[in-house]
Amino acid sequence: MKILLVGSGGREHALLWKLAQSPQVDQLFCAPGNAGCAQHAELVALDVEDHEGLADFATAHQVDLVVIGPERPLIRGQADQLRARGLRVFGPTAAAARLEGSKSFTRELLAEHGIPSAQFRAFDDPEQACEYVHKVGAPIVVKADGDAFGKGVVVAETRQQALEAIQETMVDKVHGAAGERVVLEERLVGEECTIKVFCDGKCVVPMVPSEDHKRARDGDRGPNTGGMGCFAPVPAVTPELFDEIIATIIEPTVAAMAQRGTPYTGCLYAGLMLTERGPRLLEYNCRFGDPEAQVVLPLLQSDLAEVLMATAEGRLDEVEVEWSDEAAVCVVLASGGYPGHYEKGKVITGLEQAGAVPGVTVFHAGTAQRDDKIVTNGGRVLGVTAVGADFEQAIARAYQAVDLIHFDEMHVRRDIGKRALR
Ligand code: AMP
Ligand code: GLY
Repeated sequence: MKILLVGSGGREHALLWKLAQSPQVDQLFCAPGNAGCAQHAELVALDVEDHEGLADFATAHQVDLVVIGPERPLIRGQADQLRARGLRVFGPTAAAARLEGSKSFTRELLAEHGIPSAQFRAFDDPEQACEYVHKVGAPIVVKADGDAFGKGVVVAETRQQALEAIQETMVDKVHGAAGERVVLEERLVGEECTIKVFCDGKCVVPMVPSEDHKRARDGDRGPNTGGMGCFAPVPAVTPELFDEIIATIIEPTVAAMAQRGTPYTGCLYAGLMLTERGPRLLEYNCRFGDPEAQVVLPLLQSDLAEVLMATAEGRLDEVEVEWSDEAAVCVVLASGGYPGHYEKGKVITGLEQAGAVPGVTVFHAGTAQRDDKIVTNGGRVLGVTAVGADFEQAIARAYQAVDLIHFDEMHVRRDIGKRALR
């Protein structure tokens, strides 16, 4: 089997690392990839949004399966375009990727089907949005409706903060067209977690739950980031709660999408809040999470190539998907300054030594090869994942490996996985 993976982050390195273990895989390509992806795949110098170029490449190289990593090309219809060219694709159509691409679409779908979520109102007019804030007060959550690179959400503690967020989103358009509509939402309180599932339009196969650490600094302080680390599984998600989430949130969503004539296929990522009144859906993403993929895939015991292929072919019910009962922790090493301004091109050392720590795999996110050196090339640079018999062992192994890696101004949280120990 020949597979082309689209993307260049830690998620993509983790996918390739796992795919490379499959006896069914003969050749892996990655467009455009990073220095870590190059360990497993031939890198292809094509942009993730070059839909036609990717289709040409996949056709010319007789690729059996294209796996699309990031949300943006999915939201913009890359899977549709590739399928129209006769290619087999893992990833949702644009119509199904609206679950991530439009927050109001998702909120309305959930409300219509009685799926547990947050109370919300959508507005196309900033004045009406502000009036609503004056009426209901704070706390309130202000969300740009469209895809805002994960930066479109403000959890406003005061009316003033909410009004400012509406001004920035709708009037100043800091997120561009993504902010032409806003969703104002009830603030939910509780522990956050993620459950991802493989889905072929009908059948849902859940993965191990994971929990992200979104804030930049220890103790969940500092600005929101794409994720500074995560762990899996999530002790707070008991087997009963897990079944409840699948049965009351994810399966009804998948059924509703099929019923609308836009079946969901690929990886569906449910961001959840475990509230006192039960689990609530915060958001859907139309792809694997990053860094969540870096803790979930190492726990997968089955052949990922087979699972992705079965998903793409609509026969997920035919495969057995098995998971390890170990614990996994991923610590992200970021460039100093991230998520704000940071410099690139810093030489990274210690990668080999870190990778030799038992249970550890170092996934590359923002890295590049420069001559014989590996240098930083993004905000999130590496994801150091460790698997252990329990969280104590996984955390100890991960930080043992982290301490062997160096680059100038490296930033790392020291409390990843602590929540799992409580
Ligand atoms: P989203 O992109 O919708 O997941 O929002 C990003 C982050 O904002 C989430 O991971 C939560 O931490 C927070 N958030 C989003 N919606 C809510 C909500 N209704 N109540 C509380 N926090 C929220
Ligand atoms: N780590 C959050 C995400 O992938 O959206």
